[in-house]
Amino acid sequence: MRVGVPKEQAVGEHRVALVPEVIAKLGEGFTVVVERGAGVAAGFLDEAYAAVGAELVDDAFSGVDAVVKVAKPTAAEIEKLSSGQVLVGFLTPLTDKDLIAALSARGVVAFAMESIPRTTRAQSMDALSSQATVAGYKGALLAAENLPKFLPMLTTAAGTIAPAKALVLGAGVAGLQAIATLRRLGAVVAGFDVRPAVKEQVQSLGAQFLDLGVVGEETEGGYARELTPEEQAKQQEALNARIPDFDLVVTTAAIPGRPAPRLIPASAVAGMRPGSVIVDLAAETGGNCELTKPGEVVVEHGVTIVGTLNLPSLMASHASQLYARNITTLLTHLAPAGELTLDWEDEITSGACVTRKEAA
Ligand code: NAI
Repeated sequence: MRVGVPKEQAVGEHRVALVPEVIAKLGEGFTVVVERGAGVAAGFLDEAYAAVGAELVDDAFSGVDAVVKVAKPTAAEIEKLSSGQVLVGFLTPLTDKDLIAALSARGVVAFAMESIPRTTRAQSMDALSSQATVAGYKGALLAAENLPKFLPMLTTAAGTIAPAKALVLGAGVAGLQAIATLRRLGAVVAGFDVRPAVKEQVQSLGAQFLDLGVVGEETEGGYARELTPEEQAKQQEALNARIPDFDLVVTTAAIPGRPAPRLIPASAVAGMRPGSVIVDLAAETGGNCELTKPGEVVVEHGVTIVGTLNLPSLMASHASQLYARNITTLLTHLAPAGELTLDWEDEITSGACVTRKEAA
């Protein structure tokens, strides 16, 4: 199988779908074709790809069986895809129906990283988890960076500094990583999630589980179900009362394919101490805070609200390394020893596939 790695086109996207280290391990049956400069923004130079046997080209879409990407393809990239060609990437199948229709019309055999089942068997292909890990870590650092305070307790000759109080809302993969990172930095951390199973995970990281009196349910895929309007109002009211206690809040709450749940109303922001920080990891889907401006850092009521998008791209080296492992595990699943063998009875293959050639 010839696998093409194009340079990502999305503005601010520094990641690359395959890194030299994993290409070296792909083994017999795969030839990797990398667009010149594809890895530079993530710190992987053309020479490093050449050293592991990758071919450097100007167009990684032509003459390849599979194209592997990070972000969904642009209109110009879709034009380059041909019938029967495999495409792998974050294709946002739940929210971009036009893209899926366009790929289907071209006969592309497309696999969305978001659609890989969250099962133990598929864990090493789970790019939602690998990238959420990066986002959670980086989110905690952005919170620390924007807070005009220390996170740890300090006892100095000039006096004692109390540790910062941090709250993490939504304790899935990103939230748990944010909790762990904030703990390492010395903050006193509390976490909250609507899925009841999360309480123990939060506590096992040395954080307190914040009881907001709202308990949701876990759906079959392990995700939270959307709260009813009444539950959401109750949650906002409880948070309104509790949020002023905290110096920094990292929010990560999400429901797949839906706008981010609104957890923090403007009134709760107004109740926080000046200099406090909110980092909204859900900015991508509208934000968990009413005052978040996606893609911007704003100050409202003296509170800094960080709505920076695509945090994994800010740590492009390790984010790409983890993503590349996810991609190669999926590739070798779809094409053992480089032979494309699509078994539609297999839950990973059929679950991740979002469009396919009729005859395939
Ligand atoms: P996500 O990114 O969809 O959501 C983040 C978090 O927000 C979730 O924990 C969710 O419960 C929470 N949330 C939703 N609405 C909320 C609200 N109103 N208030 C507070 N929190 C709210 O979830 P993520 O991180 O992608 O993972 C979700 C779960 O999927 C995992 O915790 C796990 O159960 C499952 N999973 C399973 C894996 C496996 O078995 N291989 C791998 C990764 C995840």
